[in-house]
Amino acid sequence: MTDFLAPSRAAAPCRSPLDLPAPAARPEPPALPIYLDYAATTPVDPRVAQQMLVFMTEKFGNPASTSHGFGQDAAFAVAKARAQVAALVEAPAARIVWTSGATESNNLALKGAAHANRARGNHLVTVATEHKAVLDSMRRLESEGFEVTYLQPQANGLVDPAAFEAALRPDTILASVMMVNNEIGVIQPVGEFGRICRARGVLLHVDAAQAAGKLHIDVERLHIDLLSLSAHKLYGPKGIGALYVREGVRLEAQMDGGGHEQGLRSGTLPSHQIVGMGAACELARLEMDAEALRIGALRDRLRDGLAALPGVRFNGDLDRRIPHNLNVSFADCGPLAERLPDIAVSAGSACNSASAAPSYVLRALGLGDALARSAMRITLGRYTGLADVDHFLLQLRLALR
Ligand SMILES: Cc1ncc(COP(=O)(O)O)c(C=O)c1O
Repeated sequence: MTDFLAPSRAAAPCRSPLDLPAPAARPEPPALPIYLDYAATTPVDPRVAQQMLVFMTEKFGNPASTSHGFGQDAAFAVAKARAQVAALVEAPAARIVWTSGATESNNLALKGAAHANRARGNHLVTVATEHKAVLDSMRRLESEGFEVTYLQPQANGLVDPAAFEAALRPDTILASVMMVNNEIGVIQPVGEFGRICRARGVLLHVDAAQAAGKLHIDVERLHIDLLSLSAHKLYGPKGIGALYVREGVRLEAQMDGGGHEQGLRSGTLPSHQIVGMGAACELARLEMDAEALRIGALRDRLRDGLAALPGVRFNGDLDRRIPHNLNVSFADCGPLAERLPDIAVSAGSACNSASAAPSYVLRALGLGDALARSAMRITLGRYTGLADVDHFLLQLRLALR
């Protein structure tokens, strides 16, 4: 049992001199509130924060101003971080472009590639369950005259490669499919899509915001042309992300200015954020396998506890998914997340009140309004422990009574 316990973030103070250390077999009580919303964002790992601090207070130079040591230190740190991010996805460091996060990466990839390749065709393909940063970029491109096909996933959330291939046309220039869905955690077969796209001369963009640091990603092997990353989903800071751009892929910059990042993304590089993202990616690369095993064991316990509850339904394929996510609905039950006062859990990214629209992702899987509204996205992470899972299940049982 203790194997599954996460390293505690801070030791709980003793309440009285009579407090004795708990016997090894009895799990520690959880620290409240319990955070089970790691897909929304993650805390910055203290090891990451420590490295960032130096680049805010001491080594604060502008990495583009390298005529002195301050700038040189910052430029060196940016280069190191670029290599750390690249290593996480098996890419050459020179192909990593810094952005403000996956939203900007998705915008730059889709609008940039569509604009730069318009002479080759006018048709784009994506999936109805993508993140809004992809769907709204596609809508914008439609308003500029591009044609977009929105593929529907199967009931398990996965896109059938045959349906994907059938959607490609002679004038298709770009397809965009996320690696891991942010609401239901399913893993799309992007390697298959990459193979199909490469054979047809279509660019493939992959939003990997929810996959990076959880799955091994090799952009070359998967035939990915453009890949979006975000630091705050993998224990790095908010406001920094990256776009991998395969060599030879043409993009139109979406921001004019000083011509940073090979002209693709102007703006002074936020070196402390970049150092944070690099450190977070390095930790993820080194620790991801052990972490996935530990979290997988917690998830199995959670899944078994949930399966015993009345009216429960798991959303999204139960095999092809990351261990960090479970998405469940309950028959004949309104929104549940707000009935769990000590638990920070998400009702899905689209709604957390009865009046809000139900999740478009769950609707695309064929769920009716009532099931979609009762859905809960439970996401586990680096600091989730056994006691957290057990307390959550207890609270849920009480809320369902
Ligand atoms: C799949 C996916 N793409 C994109 C984003 C946006 O990322 P960021 O917050 O870095 O802009 C998120 C985060 O919500 C996400 O889950």
